[in-house]
Amino acid sequence: MAALLQFRSQVKGVMVVLVMLLFFLTLSPLPCVVGRLSSNSKQNLKVQKQLKHLNKPAKKTIKSPDGDIIDCIHVSNQPAFDHPLLQNHTIQMRPTYHPEGLYDESKVLSRPKEKSSSITQLWHLSGKCPEGTIPIRRTKKSDILRANSVHKYGKKIHRTIPEPRSADLDFVSGSGHQHAIVYVEGDKYYGAKATINVWDPKIQQPNEFSLSQIWILGGSFGEDLNSIEAGWQVSPDLYGDNNTRLFTYWTSDAYQATGCYNLLCSGFIQINNEIAMGASIFPVSGYGGGQYDISVLVWKDPNEGNWWMQFGKDYVLGYWPSFLFSYLGDSASMIEWGGEVVNSEPDGEHTSTHMGSGHFPGEGFGKASYFKNIQIVDGSNNLRDPKGIGTFTEQPNCYDVQYEKKGAWGSYFYYGGPGKNPDCP
Ligand SMILES: *[C@@H]1O[C@H](CO)[C@@H](O)[C@H](O)[C@H]1NC(C)=O
Ligand SMILES: *[C@@H]1O[C@H](CO)[C@@H](O)[C@H](O)[C@H]1NC(C)=O
Repeated sequence: MAALLQFRSQVKGVMVVLVMLLFFLTLSPLPCVVGRLSSNSKQNLKVQKQLKHLNKPAKKTIKSPDGDIIDCIHVSNQPAFDHPLLQNHTIQMRPTYHPEGLYDESKVLSRPKEKSSSITQLWHLSGKCPEGTIPIRRTKKSDILRANSVHKYGKKIHRTIPEPRSADLDFVSGSGHQHAIVYVEGDKYYGAKATINVWDPKIQQPNEFSLSQIWILGGSFGEDLNSIEAGWQVSPDLYGDNNTRLFTYWTSDAYQATGCYNLLCSGFIQINNEIAMGASIFPVSGYGGGQYDISVLVWKDPNEGNWWMQFGKDYVLGYWPSFLFSYLGDSASMIEWGGEVVNSEPDGEHTSTHMGSGHFPGEGFGKASYFKNIQIVDGSNNLRDPKGIGTFTEQPNCYDVQYEKKGAWGSYFYYGGPGKNPDCP
């Protein structure tokens, strides 16, 4: 009894001290300092939380010569499985169908010794990810801090789909994005392929980018546009350097709430342990020198409905589950191939950011950038030449495109340009 009483009086004492402290704090200028600190550390907490969310625990870590850190993450621990609708998902370790017909196990269960020794991504110089894991480019604090907000990191800021039918004027005065593309529309498409020449275009401003890609589009160009995109890009804001990187993007609502680059949100399910999304491509082409290209194939599995992606001849990377999309749940209504740059009009003049090699199509092989053997997957799930190709560019004096069809290159085009020049002020 006595002990209890003593305990009670101790509690009372502590309470009095607490109330006094609270009173003191309310009167003192301290709360302002506390307030400022907490807004700073709130931002810091947000960044830390996002980093923890994006960077899963690694089984192995590889340091790439370009400064990237590649984490080998267990395949079932990848960001895709943060998606509530993927909680019970059974991962597909191979597509049920491949449009190239000659489908063989080696495309999925690749054996490195069967492949040519060519290096396709720079980090391969430093090591490999074990089977059962996937390589993910680690997001650094500085990556997130370069974004407009923690929330925007990994997402496109502007709507950037080239819509060839709209008046050219709309584009020139619009988002500041410039394109030089070829396209097909008016049919149902179940995939697309291209071999894309790889360059390291010069970027004038860090908030600009230059990319070369395939767009697989579903729906009209409204708020619910569906898009799957893949190719290479140089984007100082996204990656912190001027390296040429393999990338993908997806959205099911015209870049509003859904989708992201690479694996920076849950959506794409990767199965391949050799290719990292967002990692640097190596080597790249030189003007008048060695030419390098990558091939990208995206196709819809006719049985499961998922959209698969293949890089080169050997690497089936993974898939976007069908349920992520509305229109693309059925088929694509338009395919586009080509380049895009952001023109932020620094100093009120056209940007000098390059598209492709930075040279006009007329210069041809070894100097201008190309897409060759462009194909679509048709209603019977076969790859074939696209019919009724259109071309589109906002300002041909800045960036241009020239399409042809002949010989071993099939349907192909040269595209790109230097941006700012006497004819493009
Ligand atoms: C996953 O499975 C559990 C147990 O069967 C079930 O309760 C839950 O609703 C399922 N979640 C989804 C998204 O299907
Ligand atoms: C990227 O290249 C531009 C010039 O083309 C240069 O000014 C800039 O410093 C480079 N950025 C990085 C991060 O290397």
